[in-house]
Amino acid sequence: MSTVVKVENALDLFVAETRELFAKEPDVERRWAALTPVLAKFLADPEVIAASKNWPECVPAEGRAENLIFYEDPDYGFVVNGLTKGPGRIEHDRQNTNPHMHDHAHLYTLYGVLDGNERVERYKRVDDRSRPDYAEIERTADVLVGPGEIDLVKPYEIHREVSVGKETVALIIRSAKGGGFNQGRYDPRTNRYWESLGPRQTPCEMFPR
Ligand SMILES: [Fe+2]
Repeated sequence: MSTVVKVENALDLFVAETRELFAKEPDVERRWAALTPVLAKFLADPEVIAASKNWPECVPAEGRAENLIFYEDPDYGFVVNGLTKGPGRIEHDRQNTNPHMHDHAHLYTLYGVLDGNERVERYKRVDDRSRPDYAEIERTADVLVGPGEIDLVKPYEIHREVSVGKETVALIIRSAKGGGFNQGRYDPRTNRYWESLGPRQTPCEMFPR
């Protein structure tokens, strides 16, 4: 007779804790604030840090970024994404052909850094929103973040992450799967505003065997 022993990994534990929190906290603002320490524990897990070194590199294609998708919750809809930026992507961003200021539309996002350093820039909209293809934005914050640090991006908040160094790995929790709807894009050099699809979602095992 064999005994089946279910060994929970760090992703299983994070999902269980998140589902428990979402079940008892219906207020969306409080829910996402309360999720930050849960993600902090997930980011600090040695098993996650070790596994992240083997995640494939995310490659921008056809004007879209790429996210790895490790989990989508069937009931609450939240997803666990990975984002790896190697030297190619970072050089692409540095050339500044597209400044990458954007929002995440209606999503709540917790952006947690696993490896590397990034500057998180925040912007506010300062025009009267009377023209559909025009937006003036001003920088309100520019913060250096490193491993273990978490940024909460609320719906329609304008921001960008700029990698500092050679590589970045991030673990991102979103309130729903991105990629299937438009997000706002902002170019402060020309004040152009447009919308386009969010990152491609590439299914991936968080802990490849
Ligand atoms: Fe973003």
